[in-house]
Amino acid sequence: MTITGNQFDVDTLESVDRAHIIHPYLPSSVTERVIMTGGDGCSLTDAQGREYLDATGGLWLAQIGHGREEIAEVAAKQIKTLEYFTSFWEFSNDKAIALADRLVSISPDHINQVYFTSGGSEGNEAAIKMARYYHYRNGDTSRNWILARRNAYHGIGYGGGSATGFDVYHNGFGPMMPNVRHLTPAWPYRSELFNGQDPTDFLINELEETIASIGAENIAAMVGEPIMGVGGMLVPPMDYWPRVQEVLHKNGILMIFDEVVTAYGRVGEWFAAQYFNVQPDIIVTAKGITSGYIPLGAVLTTDKVGNALQSDFGFPMGYTYNGHPTAAAVALANLDIIEREGLLERAKTIGAYLHEGLKTLLDLEIVGEVRYVAMMHAVELVSDRETRAPLPMLQPMLPDVIRRETGVIVRDCGHNLVLSPPLIMTEAEADRAVEAMRSVLVRTGKDGVIS
Ligand SMILES: Cc1ncc(COP(=O)(O)O)c(C=O)c1O
Repeated sequence: MTITGNQFDVDTLESVDRAHIIHPYLPSSVTERVIMTGGDGCSLTDAQGREYLDATGGLWLAQIGHGREEIAEVAAKQIKTLEYFTSFWEFSNDKAIALADRLVSISPDHINQVYFTSGGSEGNEAAIKMARYYHYRNGDTSRNWILARRNAYHGIGYGGGSATGFDVYHNGFGPMMPNVRHLTPAWPYRSELFNGQDPTDFLINELEETIASIGAENIAAMVGEPIMGVGGMLVPPMDYWPRVQEVLHKNGILMIFDEVVTAYGRVGEWFAAQYFNVQPDIIVTAKGITSGYIPLGAVLTTDKVGNALQSDFGFPMGYTYNGHPTAAAVALANLDIIEREGLLERAKTIGAYLHEGLKTLLDLEIVGEVRYVAMMHAVELVSDRETRAPLPMLQPMLPDVIRRETGVIVRDCGHNLVLSPPLIMTEAEADRAVEAMRSVLVRTGKDGVIS
C-alpha cells in the first residue's frame, strides 16, 4: 500500500506500520500501535487525537520539551546555509567548531577534545576503539580487555553491545566481542549482591581481583554509566566512582563514562562526572545534546588521549555524519535554552518535587524503594519487602495499562518503573504522573496481576 500526502486515516497508518516497520522490542503478540503526531512541552498527541504526558522524555531525553519553534528556525536556517559537509581530513564547519568549543567549556576542566557521532551506540563504539587505539599508539599493544558491568546498557553496536550487561542483547547475535568482563553493578538496594559487605568495599575488591586475574597490562578501559539507566536507574554510593577511578589510574586503565543518559542536565549538572566529582578519560554523550530534535552524539576526551589518537596518520575511524552542521546548530540552540531557562537548577527542584510525590507510593506493599537523582527516577517493585523479591512483570505490562488508562507514559526497566521527564516539567504534571502510577499500582497484586 502506498500513501501520498499527509491525509492518512488512523486505520491506514496502523496497517502500514504493521506491514512495513520493524519496531525494536515489540513482541509479536502486541498489535496495538500508538502513533504520535504532535508534541508540545511535556505533552504528546496521537493520530486519534489522544493526549499524553511524556514522563520518559521519549528514551531519557527531551530535556527542553517538545515543539520548540526556536529550534525549528535554527535548523531551517542552517539547512538553507550549509546542511551538511564532511568533517573528515582537513574539512570542518563553523557550527561543529562552535559546538566543540561550547562542550569543552561546560565539561569538566580536564576535557579538551571532542569526537562527534550521531548517537549513543556510535559513541560507545568510538570510545572503546579510542581506548584500545590510545594504548596501541603508546606501544601498549596487549591492552585490549574492556571491563563493564552486569545490568549495563551501552547501546547495540558490537563493542558497546558486548559491554552491555544483559543476555537478551547477546543471545543469538554471537559471537560477541571477545575480552569483555562483566562485574557486579552498584545497586545498593540489592544488598544480597555484596555478601553482607559495604557495597563499595565489595565492588572495589572485585575490581582489584579482576584486574589482577586478567593482568592490568592487558586491560584498555572500564566503561560504566555513572548512574545505570536501562538497568533500572541504579544510583551508586557517592564513594564508588572516586574509588574506582583511583584503582583504574593506578593500573593505567582508562575510565569511560557512558553519559548518554546523564549528560546535559538530567542529573542537575551538565555531566554526571561533575555530580560524582571524578575525571573520566572519555565521556560518551548523545540524547540531551540536542534534546532529540535531531540525532547527534559527542565523545569528549582529554588532550592526552586525543593527541595520541591524532598523531602520525590520524585516527582511522570516521562516521559520514561526524560534525554534522545542522545537528551542531541545533545542539547549540538546545544548550542555549538549557542555560537561559536555568534547566540544570530546574532539574534539581522539579526532580525533588517529583520524588516527594513518588515517595508517597511507599505506602503500597509492592513498592520496595523509590530513588532519584534530579530528573532520573525509579520505583522498584517487589513481591515481598523483606526478601526484596522482584515483582513479576506480566502482560499486560504496567506501563501499558498506565498509559491506556491515564495517558501518562512511564517505562519499565526490569521490575522498576522509571521516569525521566523533560526538565521543564511542571508541578501539576509531576502530580499527574504520580497519581497515574498510584491508580494502577494500588490494584496490582504481589503476583504482578493487575485487577
Ligand atoms: C547509557 C546508554 N548508552 C548508550 C545508549 C545507546 O544510545 P543510542 O540509542 O542513541 O544508540 C543508550 C540508549 O538508551 C544508553 O542509555
